[in-house]
Amino acid sequence: MKALFEPEFIAVVGASNDERKIGHIVFSNLIRSNFKGTVYPINPKASEILGCKAYPSLTAVPGKVELVVICVPNTLVPSVMEESGIKGAEAVIVITAGFKELGKEGALLERKVGDIAKKYGMRVLGPNCMGIMNTHQRMNITFTNIHPMTGSIAIASQSGAVCSSMLDWSTKSKVGFSKFISVGNKVDIDEADLLSYLKDDPDTNVIGMYIEGANRGKELMSEAFRTSQVKPIIVLKSGRTSSGSKAASSHTGALSGSDKIYDAAFHQANVIRVNTIDELFDLLQVFANMPMPKGDGLAIVTNAGGHGVMAADACSDYGLRLASFEKSTIDKLKGYLPAAANLYNPVDVLGDATAARYEFAIKTVMEDPNVSCVAVLLAPLDTVDIKAVAEHVASFAGKVSMPVVGAFVGGTKTNVGIELMHEANVPCYDSPDKAIRALGAMVHYKKMREESGDTAPVVVEGDKQRVKDLIASVRRTGRTSLSESEGKEILRAYGVAIPAEITAATPEEAARAAARIGFPVVMKIDSPDIAHKSDVGGVMVGIGSESAVRQSFELMMSKVRSRVPGATINGITICQMVKGKEVLMGMTRDEQFGPVITFGLGGVFVEIMKDVAQRIAPLTRHDVDTMVRSIRSYAILTGARGGRAADIESLKDTIFRIAQIALDFPEISELEVNPVMVGDEGKGTYAVDALVVLRREN
Ligand code: COA
Repeated sequence: MKALFEPEFIAVVGASNDERKIGHIVFSNLIRSNFKGTVYPINPKASEILGCKAYPSLTAVPGKVELVVICVPNTLVPSVMEESGIKGAEAVIVITAGFKELGKEGALLERKVGDIAKKYGMRVLGPNCMGIMNTHQRMNITFTNIHPMTGSIAIASQSGAVCSSMLDWSTKSKVGFSKFISVGNKVDIDEADLLSYLKDDPDTNVIGMYIEGANRGKELMSEAFRTSQVKPIIVLKSGRTSSGSKAASSHTGALSGSDKIYDAAFHQANVIRVNTIDELFDLLQVFANMPMPKGDGLAIVTNAGGHGVMAADACSDYGLRLASFEKSTIDKLKGYLPAAANLYNPVDVLGDATAARYEFAIKTVMEDPNVSCVAVLLAPLDTVDIKAVAEHVASFAGKVSMPVVGAFVGGTKTNVGIELMHEANVPCYDSPDKAIRALGAMVHYKKMREESGDTAPVVVEGDKQRVKDLIASVRRTGRTSLSESEGKEILRAYGVAIPAEITAATPEEAARAAARIGFPVVMKIDSPDIAHKSDVGGVMVGIGSESAVRQSFELMMSKVRSRVPGATINGITICQMVKGKEVLMGMTRDEQFGPVITFGLGGVFVEIMKDVAQRIAPLTRHDVDTMVRSIRSYAILTGARGGRAADIESLKDTIFRIAQIALDFPEISELEVNPVMVGDEGKGTYAVDALVVLRREN
């Protein structure tokens, strides 16, 4: 990676004297960026390019070559790769397009490139990429004519088009980059590799990424987690499809689209996810230029009540708190501001505010111990000197120990202030919402980092052999779906509590079983062929007597037989009826990330409510705490409206056990327990149902 970002000897293969060629632009950018190392243009037809001696091939170069940049047509790339390996290059950037994005043949060509790189131990960026920049080394190896300023933001983007938008934005917003990386098709170097490098890069304070899809989800998560402990990562992930859910047969599967899995992964890795490119820009600006806030108390200073109210509203959306000022702060404000000014937060310095009035108010609120960040709002009223206010804020923001941002709301008139602030590297937005969102993201990041101290996954001991034997016996029958009782056997082997139950083959047996268990009971059809029992009349609850059990047995058998003819029926299971709140737990397996654990409100409306949260196993205590707390209906579990609090500790314990089953048995492709009954505090959590599906054997 050092050879990629900090090389001393670079060869550009396909460098050309023809100004229209990408090879020319890349080479000329490298020269124009004042790169201090040695550069070799490689072109069999030219003797000199832009004043540099050209060589017909890499092997003709007299000295060492650390980094090779390839700008020749795709079919020539493998041979240039071979030559690079022979020459001893350590890294290669393949700008050339025409690989896997073109389909099968392109994919084969791309694999060839990857294989050659492996053979020679070279790292490859691309193919189909725009190149890289390291502004601190004055190195621009791209074919864009925008040369960004030196700064502390590193950008990695999977899309060349997004790269060009970011570069253009950087010029307009006067934002500087440390590194700029177009990752392209990722035949070798991917986001995980880049994070591992950028984590220790002293020139980078914040990382912005545009990702369409990860190649190595697990590695991306762990590198992101390690990096986010040191510096913030802000990710714009596009492609919100749910292809992952298509093949799934359980509710859990339908509820865990691939985008939700990315959400879970980013959450667990303390990555800040944004949804739009504007949001990415806004957050990069504040993280790059402002110190981290010490707390979540915000002070707002405004010359317009309306904007103040909007900013105050946005506080709760973005996890900020309007700071309550000390009496001494209020007294000080009162002594200087006009009688009509609002002295409480938001401080309204009034429509006729001068820059001096703003200055006094900002300085005073910043001295208040309850204030950790400041938003300076401005409406372009005729009496306000926008330039003077901006100059004042720009003179100290970024140099004090708390973040200060502006929101100059308008357009034509306010632009002068926004530009002036940007010139001074002070984030200034065009709406209160954006300013509060940016500050909120800082508070959120700080909290995530502080709260995720416990990084050790919880490990549960289960009876592996029992589960292994059970899976083997199911495999022998040629099935991939387990019956409910088989599924429960697995849960039991891992210590999940199951209500007492007995499977009965006749109405008489059922009545005797119910008497043993105690009334009321639940009756459920036991069949490996029926996944959703209640849909076919296979579940009856609250049966209160032996005669009712006998009658229900006959009724259920005839219903199920007529609705699912040909299904194998083992009998009817008589279960202890447990009381509690219904939740759902489940697991699906994602190719990139591994076992995805789902938790949420249970019951028949689960797919409509979609009140679920996901995390990727292995799980830490923090993962499970945040997962359980994050569902909308969490208040129901803690005892909303005078209800009793549920046994949340045993609920979490059950989640860990399910995660452990998923980790210990990769052959289980799906698992769902719906409902899980969570009793009142101290009463335990019971798995009432179990749906387990095995991976198909090839
Ligand atoms: N070694 C060195 N130079 C070689 C060479 C070799 N083996 N074979 C050919 N060249 C020279 C050519 O002679 C030419 O130089 P010239 O102008 O002096 O004749 C130069 O390399 C380029 O080759 P050319 O055949 O003219 O290709 P091109 O410039 O039209 O296209 C790419 C090459 C890489 C730009 C093109 O294939 C491509 O991929 N374009 C898309 C790039 C892209 O979009 N990337 C992704 C961005 S996000």
